[in-house]
Formats: sequence, C-alpha cells, structure tokens
Amino acid sequence: MAGTSTASKRPGKGRKRTARTRKTLSRNNAPAGRKKPRRQRKPAAGRRPAHREPPAPRPVRVLLGVTGGIAAYKSLELVRLFRKAGWEVRVVMTAAAQKLVGKDSFETLSGNPVAFELFPRKRPKKAVGVEHVESATWADLVLVAPATANIIGKLASGVADDLLSTLLLAVPQQTVKSGRVVLSPAMNFNMWDHPSVKTNIDRLRGLGYFVVEPDTGDLACGDTGAGRLPDPEVLLGICRAALDRSLLPDLSGTIVLVTVGRTEEPIDPVRVITNRSSGRMGIAIARSFRAAGAKVRIVAGPLGVPAPLGMVTTGVQTTQQMHVEVLKNLPDSDLLVMCAAVADYRPKQASRTKRHSKTLRLELERTPDILKSVSRARHSAVVVGFSLDSDPDAAARKLKEKKLDLIVANPVTTPAADTIRPTLVLKGRKPQALPEMTKTEFARRLVIESAELLKARKRHA
Ligand SMILES: Cc1cc2nc3c(=O)[nH]c(=O)nc-3n(C[C@H](O)[C@H](O)[C@H](O)COP(=O)(O)O)c2cc1C
Repeated sequence: MAGTSTASKRPGKGRKRTARTRKTLSRNNAPAGRKKPRRQRKPAAGRRPAHREPPAPRPVRVLLGVTGGIAAYKSLELVRLFRKAGWEVRVVMTAAAQKLVGKDSFETLSGNPVAFELFPRKRPKKAVGVEHVESATWADLVLVAPATANIIGKLASGVADDLLSTLLLAVPQQTVKSGRVVLSPAMNFNMWDHPSVKTNIDRLRGLGYFVVEPDTGDLACGDTGAGRLPDPEVLLGICRAALDRSLLPDLSGTIVLVTVGRTEEPIDPVRVITNRSSGRMGIAIARSFRAAGAKVRIVAGPLGVPAPLGMVTTGVQTTQQMHVEVLKNLPDSDLLVMCAAVADYRPKQASRTKRHSKTLRLELERTPDILKSVSRARHSAVVVGFSLDSDPDAAARKLKEKKLDLIVANPVTTPAADTIRPTLVLKGRKPQALPEMTKTEFARRLVIESAELLKARKRHA
C-alpha cells in the first residue's frame, strides 16, 4: 500500500503530509515506533558499512470501539477481516454494546481481551485498555463502528464518562489530524437527521475526525433511509485508505454519481443488442470513491459481476432509462463519472413477440446521447467520461464537444479484461498515457484526479 503508492500529495484540506510523517509509515502501513531513529554514522572512507537487516515491519494496530447500535454484530465480521489482513486488533466495548453482542465473540476473533471498564476490579493478564492512555497511543488507527448518536455527542463535546469515551479523548491529536480516527455512525434515519447529531458530526469533521457517511437502505427498525452501517468490506477499504492518506483524498461530504455496466436494447422480448462490458471498472470506481468518504450513487445497467452492497443503486436496462436516471440525479451531484458502456444503437422498433423468421432485417437508430444532454443541462458537477478508443485525438474532440472535465480513453479490449491501459485527456493539457494497471489501481488514480478537479471547481466557483 504505502510502499506502492505513486501519489505524492494528498489533496484533502489541511492534511498535507510532510516528508517526516510520510516516513513514519512502514511498508504495511504501520507507523513506525515512536522512538526517534538513531542517525547512522557515515562510514569512513575505504571502510565498508556494517550490514544491518532492516527491521521487520510490525502489523498494523487497530483499536475498534463498538457502541450500542443494532449494527454492532457487523463489527464481528470487521474484526475477522482485520485479522485476515494481518492486523492486530484490540476491541473496546461500551456497556450498551455488550447488551447487543457478547464480548466473548470479539475476544475469540481478535485474540485479545475486550476492554470495557474504566475502573476494572481485576487487571487482565494482557493489559489492554486498563490504562486508557496506553491503548489510545498504541493504535495506528482508531475505528468506532457502529458509532451511536450518544458517542458522537460525547466526543463532540468532550465528555469522558466511560472507557471508550475517555480513550477517544486520549488519542493523540496527530492521529486525529491525520485522519486515522474513523467514526462510522449507524442509527435510525430520524436520529441521523436530527439537527443536534448533524451539528456534532460537522464539529467532529472540523476537528479532523473521518466520519463515514452511513448507507441508505432498510434499517433494523423497519424503516428505510440513511443510517445503515456500511458493509464490513467497505469499512475495511476506508480503514486502508485512512492508514495511507496519500492513497486517497478525503472526499467526505462529496456526492458522486457513477454509471456502471452496460445497457441492453431489446430486439424482441428475449433478444437484446448489447456489448461486453462487465461493470468491473465502474464498480471499482464506486468502491474507491466510497473508500475516500464520498457518498456514492450508482446507476447500473446489467452487470457481469455482483453489485456492491450498501450503495444506493438504481438498476436500468436501456440507454434511455440510464439517460433519465442520470439527468434526475445530476443536479444533486458534485461529480458524475460516466463509466457505463451504453449501447449506441437500438432497433427502431422492438417486436412485442419473439421473432421466428428465417432472416431478420433490423433498422437501428441512435440511442440518446447522455453526455450531450449532460452538457446542455443545468448543473455544477465535474463530469468524467470514458471513451473506448485508443486515439487520444478522438478523445480530445469528445472532451470539447461534450464539455467534459476529464476523459479516460482506453482500448476496445478493456470491457472484458481485468486490467486497463488508460490515457487521461484533460482540458488544456497534453494527453497522459498511463501504464497498464488493474481496474482497482486505476479507480484509485481516478479518485485522486477527480479530487483535483473538484478542488479547482470550488476555487473558481
Ligand atoms: C435494541 C437497541 C438498538 C439500538 N440501536 C441504536 C443504533 O443503531 N444507533 C444509536 O445511535 N443508538 C441505538 N440505540 C440506543 C443506544 O444503545 C443508546 O443511546 C445508548 O445509550 C448508547 O450508548 P453507547 O454510545 O455508550 O454505546 C439502540 C438501543 C437499543 C435498545
């Protein structure tokens, strides 16, 4: 992760990383020990320097706070994923959390005793959390998931009346300011909408805490709305990004609309005209924006891979349906990424019954040009398009014609492949051909490029 990142700066506000702080992250993301490294003496001329083995990187240390939200059971899976990633995990539970999930399960999965008392009667053999300051400074990353309205309120106002709230105040400001204290609120949608909760969230974001936007969907209380804890895999991605802030910028508060997959144009009730797009690129993009903290809405045509869980997804079949959904969501979006491979032609007249004739002559017409409509619509979103064409000049023409901010030209072999060889075409800049990379790697790169465009848009607004 940190070792392979090519990004040199993090566009997030006020989170510039200095050369020194960058150095404190070892290869597997773990900040190095707190002791100052001894300065190496220069070898005298002619004398060979003594060979020293580099110190083995230690595992990432995660402190997971679990509070009394109904989604607390999901944190068990999160601990399993952390351990699978090779990370060391300590869990601190509130009293309310223990009413919802047993601490024994967390102890088994984390391999560490769960801390929950500020004044324990007995000090556990493996001293964890008893000295709240020790655990607070031990952690490379602190995650509170689920974070109740209660813990959010306490942290925003500096209340320390149990182990977790005390420990959160004892976390060094350097950890907070570098975005490595992540809060993932989950609650009933009315609670999430409450002005006091909103004020507390704004305050915490202002102080440097990374607040994950809750997902929208079915809630445990039987209602539907915003307030769900994101899928554990999504939280793992957010934690990875938090550990290496140079990998992804902080896009919390940004609304991103992504079209994914392909569209299908019916010939008759069973046959369609379509293309080979699997949706892998679009899904990787949606996931990366989510990991950067953005709120992501997906408009998905048919997919060859599973749709990501926990993101607002509207399913469509035809280009016309995608056109309608994109224009509907555009005014509320800060960024549109048109990654779907839409069918450019459709039968002029689809048959209502299945065709059986020996030969079939189809007259095709153009489908609506979504990007053209976007260029004519009233909106303030940054628009990123894709062009299945290796010719950067053709992409540059499309960029101008459709008033795009960025276009990703890629070869026609991309839709069915695991990798992409993209060329970035930006207004007023020379096309930039990038080496072949996985779609996940490119998705991260696109998030970084988009963050720069969003920043520039804000500056000129
Ligand atoms: C069954 C049940 C489920 C709850 N789920 C939530 C929830 O999802 N989010 C939330 O903010 N509060 C929820 N609460 C309320 C909290 O448990 C309550 O505010 C408690 O004081 C939180 O304490 P803590 O923040 O110390 O864990 C729930 C309560 C009950 C009884």
